[in-house]
Amino acid sequence: MDEFNKLSQIKTYTKSKLGTDKTGHGYDHIKRVVTMAEKILESEPADKLITLTAAYLHDTIDDKLVSNPKSALAELQEFLASLEFTSAQIEEISFIITHMSFAHSLQDDDFQLSLSGQIVQDADWLDAIGAIGITRAIYYGGHHGEKIYNPALAPRTNMTREEYRNLDDETIINHFYEKLLKLKDMLNTPTAKKIAEHRQQVMLDFLDEFKNEWNSVV
Ligand code: ADP
Ligand code: NI
Repeated sequence: MDEFNKLSQIKTYTKSKLGTDKTGHGYDHIKRVVTMAEKILESEPADKLITLTAAYLHDTIDDKLVSNPKSALAELQEFLASLEFTSAQIEEISFIITHMSFAHSLQDDDFQLSLSGQIVQDADWLDAIGAIGITRAIYYGGHHGEKIYNPALAPRTNMTREEYRNLDDETIINHFYEKLLKLKDMLNTPTAKKIAEHRQQVMLDFLDEFKNEWNSVV
C-alpha cells in the first residue's frame, strides 16, 4: 500500500474518532497540526510517513478524550498493522503519541522523542498558543465549567498530572500561566520557535488587555 493511500485511510480513522469532539480537539485541530507538521518537515530531515501518521493520530488515545486509552491504543495498533506498517513503525508512532503531551511532561520528563515526535509535539503545541490557542482555552474552559477569572486564585505551580487535570479551582486565565505561556520555551525545532514568538506576544497582549478591562482601566 502506498504512502498516500495509508495517510488517506488514517485521516478517515481520525475523523471517525474525533469528528464529534466539542472540547477543541476536533478534526479542525488535527488538520492544523498536520499542516504545521508538513511545514516544519520542510526544514527537518524526519520520516514523513511516521510524522504525519503521528500528527493525524495523536489525540485518538488521549485520556481526556477516550474512556479507555489502553484499548484505544490497542485498536490503533491493530489498525496500523492492517495498513502494513511494520512493528518498528507502530512502536515509534505509539511512543510518540503516548509521550508528547504537556500532561505527560508533568509526570515524566526522562525520555527523548524522535525527531518525528518533536515535530508533532511542536505542531500540537503551536495550536495551543496564539489566537487559536486563546480561543481553544476559552472553548475548553467553558465546556468544563471553569470560571473565567478570579484574581484571588493564584496560578498553580509544579502541578502533577492529576492536579493539572483537576479543574475544581481552575480559571481560563490561570491556564495561560500554568501552561500556555510556558510552551514557547519547551518547543524543539527552530521553525516552531520562530512561529511561537508572534503567538506568544498575541497572548501577552490579550492578557494585558483582559486585566485592564477587568480592572476598569480605561
Ligand atoms: P496536552 O494534550 O498537550 O496535555 P491539553 O490536553 O492540556 O494538552 O490541552 C489541549 C487543549 O486544551 C489546549 O488548547 C489547552 O489550552 C486546552 N486546555 C487544557 N486544559 C485546559 C484548562 N484547564 N483550561 C482551559 N483550556 C485548557
Ligand atoms: Ni492535539
